[in-house]
This record gives sequence, structure tokens and C-alpha cells, in this order.
Amino acid sequence: MKGKILVTGGTGYIGSHTVVELQNSGYEVVIVDNLSNSNADVVDNIEKVSGIRPAFEMVDCLDFNGMNAVFDKHPGIKAIIHFAASKAVGESVQKPLLYYRNNLVSLVNVLELMPMHKVEGIVFSSSCTVYGQPDILPVTEEAPIKKAESPYGNTKQINEEIIHDTVASGSPISAILLRYFNPIGAHPTALLGELPNGVPQNLVPFLTQTAMGIREELSVFGDDYDTPDGSCIRDFINVVDLAKAHVIAIDRILESKQLEPVEVFNIGTGRGLSVLELIKGFEESTGVKLNYKIVGRRAGDIEKVWANPDKANNVLGWTAKETIEDTLRSAWNWQLKLRERGIQ
Ligand code: NAD
Ligand code: WQD
Repeated sequence: MKGKILVTGGTGYIGSHTVVELQNSGYEVVIVDNLSNSNADVVDNIEKVSGIRPAFEMVDCLDFNGMNAVFDKHPGIKAIIHFAASKAVGESVQKPLLYYRNNLVSLVNVLELMPMHKVEGIVFSSSCTVYGQPDILPVTEEAPIKKAESPYGNTKQINEEIIHDTVASGSPISAILLRYFNPIGAHPTALLGELPNGVPQNLVPFLTQTAMGIREELSVFGDDYDTPDGSCIRDFINVVDLAKAHVIAIDRILESKQLEPVEVFNIGTGRGLSVLELIKGFEESTGVKLNYKIVGRRAGDIEKVWANPDKANNVLGWTAKETIEDTLRSAWNWQLKLRERGIQ
């Protein structure tokens, strides 16, 4: 065993894939999740995939004493990956205080508890949303942080600042901030994937639900952007590739390889793909025809963004490996499996 890692939000979409990769790499995992956006049966599926059952604690990160008790119950936690957060951009506009409380106080609690329990470092889930519409593409980690488009985006910016300030104040911890681009796809076993709550707001879950007939039609939000085909461009990153970046970040913290106490990395493929290209790719790689129509722009959408992942490639030794075809097939297989399970 390489050591014990606490994964908050570990039954969620990215968290569950990361738990499996941590286990595959020899780490022992303790999950904390309040199940506000995931199900306890994810723990069973993690065990089916990795052959190892992670410890699971149904605790809210907002509950300081509850979190303290988790550290007492599982002594020797070496590092934390903090996924737990609310993440729906639209909902954050309707309920900003819920987002500020959940995403800020959860992190504050974790950061306060870390030195008390001699936890060495934290890997934090940040987002390309902090860049807004970058002036230069592909975007590097040095690009300026733009005013957030939503309370959700603002929480990620403030979270990053909270971590910088805490480490600068002399707290004996180090941190790696991973700025994810657009995570998509599912585990190749189709045992883990994204389970959206209600009508999906994100492109790929809406797309696979439309292909399944759960939704009548996918609306493509705008074809009049300044891009080759007029639709928006994103950097779609396979969720297993993304999960593996976390394992490398944890290794780096525990092997004291960090060059600075807080490091920031873009986690993307470096390739921009338009919404229409993604739809075409889905149809070609699955053989499933998609019902879609072009509608007006969605308020607040960024026109185009994709990563310069050179720093992650060169410093972490991490690169995105999965093809977009395999990734879209994995998303489709997950949707098929959900139907088999009678979920959607
Ligand atoms: P998710 O909703 O599937 O997972 C988050 C998990 O955290 C859920 O299981 C939820 O139940 C849990 N959770 C939320 N609040 C909690 C609390 N107070 N205490 C305990 N558990 C709590 O989301 P995801 O897509 O896996 O995202 C994980 C992280 O990555 C989030 O911080 C998110 O903001 C960030 N992120 C996601 C994306 C994306 O597109 N999915 C992109 C960039 C960054
Ligand atoms: C992608 C593209 C839409 C749905 C959001 C958050 C961001 C990050 C990732 C966490 C856009 C278009 C979508 C649909 C469409 N999350 N689209 N029809 O907006 O890039 O990023 O998730 O940090 O913070 O803002 O992702 O999947 O919603 O949209 O045409 O039904 O697909 O307009 O161009 P987005 P998305």
C-alpha cells in the first residue's frame, strides 16, 4: 500500500473514476460524500471495477465535527483530493448562497483539518471556467483570471485564492490545483459514469439521452460564433484520463516533487472540438443517428476554449491518451447500461 487518501465527493462522476485509479495504483481510499449528487451503490460498482471496496463515510464536508471524526476513525490519511462541491452553473445563479456555502465552507473545513491530522497535501478540482473567454488560445496557466460568469465559477476562483492564501500563511500543507476542461465519457466497463440530476445541462449527457430517446431533440446553442462551423469549441477530456492526472498529482505531493507549494495545471487534451464536430463524431463512432437542431445562443456561453496542456505534459508527465471516438462510445455504453439498470 502506498498510503491512505481521503477523497471527498468520491461517489460523484470524476471522484468515482479517480478512486478506481488510486486503488489501481496501490493507494488505500477513504471516501467522504453526502450523496447530494450521487448514490451509495457507486461504492459497489467501484469494488466491481477495482476488486477493492473503499471505505465510505456518508458525511457532509460542511460538518466540521463530522469531518474531524472521519480523520480520527481513519488515522494516517496522507493527502486529500477535494471533489465535493455543487457544480450546476444555472442553479448557482438561482441559489448563489447555497453554492458559496457549500463550495467555500467545505474547502475551509478541509484546510483547517489538514494540519490538525498531519495531512500533507491537497489536490483541488478547479476548472477552465476561471479563464472565461481567454484572449489567447490555447490557454496556458498564466492567462489572466477573468471575472466569473456565474456564482459557481466565482466559487472556483475564490477556492483557488483560499488555497493560495492558506499555504502562504505558513500552513504546513502543499496543494495542486487541477483546472479541468470539459470532462466526458465513462469507465470502459460501463460500471461508472455520470448520473445527471434531472434534465442534463451539459452537452454529452443531453446528447446520449437524446440518442436513447429520453429527450426528443438536442438543441445546439448557436451556429453563428466566430469558429469554423459557427458552433462553440471546447476541449473534451476523457474522464479516465482526467482521473489518472489526480493519481500523478498525489504521487507528486507525497514524493515531495513539487517545485512550488501551490502548483496549477491545465488538464485538457490540447485539441479544440466544436459542438457540431462532437455530434458528428458521436454518430460516426456509435452508428447512432442523433436528432438535433440549431437554436439561439445560450446566455453566458464561452465561444471557444481549449487547453495548452504543455505544463501537465512536461512537468507531471501526464497526457490525455483516449481518443474522442472511444470516449464517445464509452458515454454511449454507459447510457445503454443505465437503461439496462432501469435508471434512465
Ligand atoms: P459530481 O456532482 O458528480 O460529484 C461531486 C460529489 O460531491 C457528489 O457525489 C456530491 O454528492 C458530493 N458533494 C457535494 N457537496 C458535498 C458536501 N458538502 N459534502 C460531501 N459531499 C458533497 O461532480 P463531478 O462532475 O464529479 O465534479 C467533481 C468536482 O470537479 C467538482 O468540484 C466540480 O466543480 C469540479 N469540476 C467538474 C467539471 C465537470 O464538468 N464535471 C469541470 C470542472 C471542475
Ligand atoms: C458545452 C458546449 C454549449 C448543451 C460547463 C461549465 C464549466 C465546466 C464544464 C465545471 C457549449 C453546448 C450544451 C446542450 C449545446 N464545469 N451545448 N446543447 O458550458 O463548456 O462548461 O461544464 O467547472 O464551468 O460552465 O459545458 O457541456 O454545458 O456545454 O449546444 O444541450 O455545448 O452551448 O458550447 P460548458 P456544457
